[in-house]
Amino acid sequence: MSNMKISSFEEYHQVYKHSIEQPEEFWAGIADNFQWRKKWDNVLSWNFKEPNIKWFEGAKLNITENCLDRHLETLGDTPAIIWEPNDPTENHRVLTYKQLHDKVCQFANVLKNNGVQKGDRICIYMPMLPELAIAVLACARIGAIHSVVFGGFSAQSIADRIKDAECKVVITADGGFRGTKDLPLKSVIDDALVQCPSVKRVIVLTRSRTPVSMIKGRDVWWEDEIKKVETQGNPECPAEEMDAEDMLFILYTSGSTGKPKGVVHTCGGYMVYAGYTFANTFQYNPGDVYFCTADIGWITGHSYIVYGPLSQGATTLIFEGIPTYPDAGRFWDIVEKYKVNILYTAPTAIRSLMSFGLDPLKDKDLSSIKVLGSVGEPINEEAWHWFDDHIGYNKAPIVDTWWQTENGGHMITPIAGITPTKPGYATLPLPGIQPVLVDENGKEIEGNGVSGNLCIKFPWPGILRTTYGDHERCRLTYFATYENMYFTGDGCLRDDDGYYRITGRVDDVLNVSGHRIGTAEVENAINMHSSVVESAVVGYPHDIKGQGVYAFVVSPNQHGGDAELNKKDIIMTVQRIIGPIAKPDKIQFVSGLPKTRSGKIMRRILRKIAEGDTANLGDTSTLLDPSVVDEIKAGAL
Ligand code: PRX
Repeated sequence: MSNMKISSFEEYHQVYKHSIEQPEEFWAGIADNFQWRKKWDNVLSWNFKEPNIKWFEGAKLNITENCLDRHLETLGDTPAIIWEPNDPTENHRVLTYKQLHDKVCQFANVLKNNGVQKGDRICIYMPMLPELAIAVLACARIGAIHSVVFGGFSAQSIADRIKDAECKVVITADGGFRGTKDLPLKSVIDDALVQCPSVKRVIVLTRSRTPVSMIKGRDVWWEDEIKKVETQGNPECPAEEMDAEDMLFILYTSGSTGKPKGVVHTCGGYMVYAGYTFANTFQYNPGDVYFCTADIGWITGHSYIVYGPLSQGATTLIFEGIPTYPDAGRFWDIVEKYKVNILYTAPTAIRSLMSFGLDPLKDKDLSSIKVLGSVGEPINEEAWHWFDDHIGYNKAPIVDTWWQTENGGHMITPIAGITPTKPGYATLPLPGIQPVLVDENGKEIEGNGVSGNLCIKFPWPGILRTTYGDHERCRLTYFATYENMYFTGDGCLRDDDGYYRITGRVDDVLNVSGHRIGTAEVENAINMHSSVVESAVVGYPHDIKGQGVYAFVVSPNQHGGDAELNKKDIIMTVQRIIGPIAKPDKIQFVSGLPKTRSGKIMRRILRKIAEGDTANLGDTSTLLDPSVVDEIKAGAL
């Protein structure tokens, strides 16, 4: 496995050059580090026009054999998963590779007993427990396609995702714990399933012991199903042989339109890319304890809690709770308790912990830390330095990893200890990745000391293949803006040293606490409220969340005339339609929105007002009613 790892900056440059000049040879060499039932006939065929991208065509594999079976002989008794509960007084759990393998096989047999077949879609809505990873891997074991939905999404959001993928089975828990909150997961699923006739079975894990209603003929308990498998006496579950280009999973993500899209990743390319990037970026060494604080409901959890680390035989820590429970020292307690060597977290978590000062760090021994990672949004220099000074003691390299759900794994990132870092910079592309900056006309901007829209001009194994059920949408979103390029939606600068710094989204997508939220989605939700005529949502700088959600709302006939009550009601509506993660931070009632004569909302103006930058609103003369701008400015929050 170590054949993939780059060990010096000089080697990085050599390997990078080779990866660009001979991409197929390069990727075949990387793929050789994995276990294939049959090797590929063809490394790559592609065009970005349709798009049609195929990696390792003709190859046969199962990703769980790479994540589990192949480690059994050498790492059978090594911890694969360490689980730390929300409540620090509850016992932690450790699953060795052998134990994880057995549990995955067992649950894969449960799925089979419940009628799941290769190609079926399975929705997973679970708390951060080892069983979530087990459910994911069990699907992969038998060739079922998982669609994990983050626990912070509402019943309506889950229903939309289940319907889009026509899921046959849902795997959930009675409830979950996060900080002081109890998450009523099963009850949320029950609400969602009212709209989802495709779901024939719900498998419910016991976690919180919250009373739940079980529907006859539809709902079964995880534990009862495991018992049945045990009495059947067949602990093994042979891994299904998958084509490299068979679907592995769907993960929904927000874009500029109102409807989230199901990003599709396939078995071979995704496996290679998740494993390759994990090994390189973090420079994982055998025996290291690796802790990624993301949720498995996001791509970071898929690639860097489950598939990447396990494919490399790593020990991956799963934490059920939140950084501030029972206090703001929780991450540091975990680092000390398990002697964590690699900590991968998000700028929003760092900023939130910074706000508690240094007290929570007193007497915490963080000397085990060798590598720090950041993901999800641009990291501001203050947070970068705090992380470097107080967590890494200025000895641990920080890898600021830029990538997206659609990419499968890290794209532009330092390689720990090898690439010289710069605060706020994702630095350089990994070998195999060819970033370009383009202007509005799609013309490549060459040279250094420039900025533009970030595109990638050559495929890599982890690139999305389609958006589920709607290939045209995939083409339009990512491959139609600029010819022959994958468009990321991000703005970016390349400095005089050729280092990349991501400056944020250039489309109508917000990044709130590292969560991607489409403004159109939030507007749709707000507009469902009976008092609302229309609305416009923009982002504004937020000290902790990075971006906050600012909603301008036209609501002339407020119920009872109580504006505050009405705001609360609108927030509740968003929570119900999307989930708590999309709640507006600010709502400003306005009598109208600034629109062009053709009826288009001038978001540029609203963005400036939300940012508090009203001195320079630019040309407003093309507006249908320029006076509305003065009113909005005067009422800005
Ligand atoms: O804007 C970029 C930002 O997050 C977006 C991708 O979001 P998502 O698909 O949810 O994946 C998040 C985790 C991979 C990107 O378009 N982003 C992600 N990482 C960084 C970042 N922005 C700046 N620096 C990063 N390191």
